Amino acid sequence: MKTLITLNINGDAREIYIDARRSLLDILRDELALMGAHRGCDSGDCGACTVIVNGQPVTSCMMLAADWNGAEILTVEGMAKDGQLHPIQRALVEKGGIQCGFCTPGFVMNIKALLDENPKPTEAEARAWLAGNLCRCTGYAKIIEAVMSVAEESA
Ligand code: FES
Ligand code: FES
Repeated sequence: MKTLITLNINGDAREIYIDARRSLLDILRDELALMGAHRGCDSGDCGACTVIVNGQPVTSCMMLAADWNGAEILTVEGMAKDGQLHPIQRALVEKGGIQCGFCTPGFVMNIKALLDENPKPTEAEARAWLAGNLCRCTGYAKIIEAVMSVAEESA
């Protein structure tokens, strides 16, 4: 049986009939063709599927979409504006915090959540906040460098 829900995604209200057993990640990717949130582990361990729901970062593979009727959702597709990368995306590129890119959308969203809550984190705070986002390529140092440079720019 399908349930009708409304999700406000990146500023657009989307009404959609969903199978109540499906995750928010399933709905974003399979029903709404928003492929930015990646399916890594599908079990809450890698952070690649992170999106921001009602201002909080969540691992969308672990959430039932049906529980978020009426929610405001920001995905990585909503970060660039007018053809310009968001400063977080730009910093990750400039600092070399992206290699294969698989983890990147999850990092972008969780870094945004961090800087919204704490615009001037210490390096230790940034590392602790991002501990749930795994990257197999970069060694993390350049990602943290990117976070700190965005924090500095906004000073
Ligand atoms: S795919 Fe959701 S945490 Fe890994
Ligand atoms: S850049 Fe490849 S997993 Fe992070």
